Amino acid sequence: MALHIDILTLFPRMLDGFLAESILGKALDRGLLTVKVHDLRDWTTDKHNTADDRPFGGGAGMVLKPEPVFAAIEQLQRPGCRRIYLTPDGVPFSTQRAESLSHEQHLILLSGHYEGIDQRIRDCVIDEEISIGDYVLTNGTVAAAIVIDALSRFIPGTLGEEKSLTHESFTNKLLDFPQYTRPAEFRGMSVPEVLLSGNHVEIEKWRQARRLEKTRQIRPDLLE
Ligand code: ADE
Repeated sequence: MALHIDILTLFPRMLDGFLAESILGKALDRGLLTVKVHDLRDWTTDKHNTADDRPFGGGAGMVLKPEPVFAAIEQLQRPGCRRIYLTPDGVPFSTQRAESLSHEQHLILLSGHYEGIDQRIRDCVIDEEISIGDYVLTNGTVAAAIVIDALSRFIPGTLGEEKSLTHESFTNKLLDFPQYTRPAEFRGMSVPEVLLSGNHVEIEKWRQARRLEKTRQIRPDLLE
């Protein structure tokens, strides 16, 4: 069965364009995975659809209330589903995690407020917390989109050529080599000779050398 993902957010329209376009849009059209976006306010019960409140103990900002989140997750969850909260204090996201999540049956992605969510949500109805990087977004909706985009590439059929997965940055812990297309000369800049040579052994050697060089420069930590 295809992976199904439920996204819980206060800003469902942020995802409209993202889900309709490009490789992910095509994968959804073809049913390679299914994604449903839910407005957390649908599970509020007061007439103002209040989903957040001031923090106990004081402090700036608002905190996502437990009631609508518990109600939403309890309604949506199915046996075996993984419930993930997107937060800057979560475990750093990676290609490895994207791949393993692509094998799941059902994910619920909860996008919170940047100020936080009631701790009881994290304690009771969340299995895993993911951060997409050491910076703080205004809310986790874009982070949820990034997780979906990254994992969708590991779902068979999503990418045209399966091969393109193995040949790029991070899959084998090196950054990517430079790519060129026509014209062979543009504004006085020529494409490296070796790429025009047709010698695939030499091309492969050149590419590997460029990958090492770039990784050493930009991400030496990957080589350790
Ligand atoms: N929400 C806000 N910032 C985030 C981040 N860096 N990763 C995941 N979710 C977030």
